[in-house]
Amino acid sequence: MKENINLSNLPKHIAVIMDGNGRWAKKQGAMRIFGHHHGIKSVRETVEGCVELGVKYLTLYTFSTENWNRPKLEVEGIMQLLIKTIGEEVPDLNKNNVRLKAIGDLDSLPKSARKTLQDSIDLTKNNTGLTLTLALSYSGKWEIVEVTKKIAQQVKSGALAIENITEEVFASFLATEKAPDVDLMIRTGGDHRISNYLLWQLAYAELYFMDDLYWPEFRKQHLFGAIYEYQQRERRFGKTSEQLPSVKV
Ligand code: IPE
Ligand code: IPE
Ligand code: MG
Repeated sequence: MKENINLSNLPKHIAVIMDGNGRWAKKQGAMRIFGHHHGIKSVRETVEGCVELGVKYLTLYTFSTENWNRPKLEVEGIMQLLIKTIGEEVPDLNKNNVRLKAIGDLDSLPKSARKTLQDSIDLTKNNTGLTLTLALSYSGKWEIVEVTKKIAQQVKSGALAIENITEEVFASFLATEKAPDVDLMIRTGGDHRISNYLLWQLAYAELYFMDDLYWPEFRKQHLFGAIYEYQQRERRFGKTSEQLPSVKV
């Protein structure tokens, strides 16, 4: 699969909704948290796949604002797993020149998770390869409200005039900062929805839903398959097919 990928037409930004951990675990007759644990290997493979190809931005939906409503035991299990995994993975991320980031309402995370996360972000901040962003206690609506508050503040203080609020200015306040909009969004687990993820950044993303695969089963070959499929699509951005530059083979 990897050989079929055109390296000059890679998605600049890939976003993933890593869904189906609980159902995968249930299928094995295990507790839901078992599925979350097994999802770590899939994360590692996805990161490695992006590093191998030279993808610049990967954003993973790790825990949504709405996920706080899950049973307390599951939420605690996920938070513990997060701390342990970041601690274990960061040396490899660093070796692979990966820059770690996080978006979301990070103040709502347990203190120990925040600390591990911040230490890892600091350690990798000068890396120049893949930017790996974890969406944690994140939702797209939350982010848009945060941007609105920041813009309102600037207008109030006189730093920004209302007529100067453009799409570019708005986007510059997003949590994803300098990352380009998402080109390819992958969701495992069979549901065809975006579940409050990156609402602004997904505006023109190609959506790739995997119906028969739970997140713990996701491997590099699936990432390469998704990228290959992305490259077969015609991205018209509102234009007609005839207006697009002809593809050189
Ligand atoms: C995704 O898997 C992981 C998180 C939301 C944290 P789920 O836990 O949602 O698994 P399903 O969708 O219930 O199978
Ligand atoms: C989306 O999965 C959030 C993450 C993968 C972290 P959910 O399992 O929470 O999504 P819904 O509730 O089924 O839409
Ligand atoms: Mg789910």
